[in-house]
Amino acid sequence: MKNKDHIENMRDGQTESPWQSSLNRQIQPNAAENGVIYDTLVVGGGITGVTTAFLLQKSGQKCVLAEAHQLGFGTTGGTTAHLNTFFDTTYPEINSAFGTEAATMMATAAKNVIDFIKANIDTLDIDADFEYKDAYLFSQNEKETDQLQEILSAAKQAGVSVSEVFENGVPINFEHALLFKDQAQFHPLKYIYAIAQAFQKLGGILLENTIITDSSFKDEIHSAEAGHINLKAKNLVYATHIPPGVNLLSLRNAPYRSYVLGVKLEDDEYPESLAYDMQEPYHYFRPHKINGEKILIVGGGEDHKTGHGDPQQAFKNLKQYVRKYFKVSDIPYHWSSQYYIPVDGLPYIGHLPGGDERIFTATGFNGNGMILGTLSAMIIHDLILNKENRYADLFKPSRLKLVAGFTEFVKENADVAYHFIADRLSAETLDSINQLEPDEGKIVSFDGHKIAVYKDAKGKVTALSPTCTHAGCIVNWNGAEKSWDCPCHGGRYAIDGKVITGPPQKNLEQIDINNVSFFNEV
Ligand code: FES
Repeated sequence: MKNKDHIENMRDGQTESPWQSSLNRQIQPNAAENGVIYDTLVVGGGITGVTTAFLLQKSGQKCVLAEAHQLGFGTTGGTTAHLNTFFDTTYPEINSAFGTEAATMMATAAKNVIDFIKANIDTLDIDADFEYKDAYLFSQNEKETDQLQEILSAAKQAGVSVSEVFENGVPINFEHALLFKDQAQFHPLKYIYAIAQAFQKLGGILLENTIITDSSFKDEIHSAEAGHINLKAKNLVYATHIPPGVNLLSLRNAPYRSYVLGVKLEDDEYPESLAYDMQEPYHYFRPHKINGEKILIVGGGEDHKTGHGDPQQAFKNLKQYVRKYFKVSDIPYHWSSQYYIPVDGLPYIGHLPGGDERIFTATGFNGNGMILGTLSAMIIHDLILNKENRYADLFKPSRLKLVAGFTEFVKENADVAYHFIADRLSAETLDSINQLEPDEGKIVSFDGHKIAVYKDAKGKVTALSPTCTHAGCIVNWNGAEKSWDCPCHGGRYAIDGKVITGPPQKNLEQIDINNVSFFNEV
């Protein structure tokens, strides 16, 4: 089923999403050129970065897009690519925190984004599996039904096309259900690769494997170090989720992992629509054809903060869940991906607070990254070109909103504080490396120091300093994606210590274990 021509390691983990396995990567990155002063440097080749670069180039700017790995390596390669006019932050929540006008703006923005993506697909003739779909949101108990009624009335008030119905699109018991019309789904990688090609055709410069390690601002010009090249630009956009450095946005967004399966069904009874339950965390369902074969995409239900939880157990639970409701013949895909929950429920899009002039960023998309990433590109495009944008004020990153739920967030960030203190000051006794299974990683203590140790299938051990290079927390092993994940702000590293997810910019330090006799005995 999988396309053998796909390029390995295209995503920030060892599991493979169906988007990776069904993409013909027909793109030629450009060669880096020193000495050019670009109008805008966009860092990050996900949907936000690619769309921003494309829009600015189309408006006459000279742009360079720098991706640390390959296009779609991060969350865009692992999303489930739903395009909805409702959000993880519900309309009643938006009403109570920001007012009804904000809820109406969100509803309008979502609709505009779906239209914008469809218009790009039509104009550029992109084969991105785009389909309009109905979407069902359903309750399964009294409490959820009450919430559903509130969502119905707030969504209607915001101008969303929604109605009560007596079906939910999936073979799962429900009490009440809502139907949202004109939702959509697509293939996120086919889409962003085509947009990136259009960007190049307009003269834009696309750089892959270009990691920005440092940047400075002098005489109105940003200067970004990328190892082999120094990139200069008048505007700098971090489309990397949390921008590098320890800044306000690190504290206002909590990183989460979500788990997804691509399932084949024995009886061919694939749901036609999108469907969402209201559990915490919620499950979501949608069909897609990958390499000509139908799969059912089922995700959620097991989400947890990055660097916490048990990823392998999460997959086991999700598999058990899907087998309860569907006749599963095979599960060809399982993968996980990262997203960021903003403290007050709305994304942060615009000028980086406390940053140098003309640095822009976008993060806190929750589970609505395709809509909000695209919306970010539209807003940042207007801010850079000094154009009015009706959404810009609502999403200003410098806003400080203390709302219900904030206590919960502080609790989550108390956990960040715990890691800062506990990890720096104590060297608790941990299991010895002898207990490591093949293909397993663990933090062990040796001689008063903590070491991140991974043993491969052949018994070869790789050792790293476990201290995250962002702000000093201790990383944890992610056995599903074979990565070292930081519990503080979601930084992630590969087995060899290379950064695979920001905000860290520097790799974990490798430790030469040959000098440690303890390890030689293993
Ligand atoms: Fe911030 Fe690791 S990501 S300390």
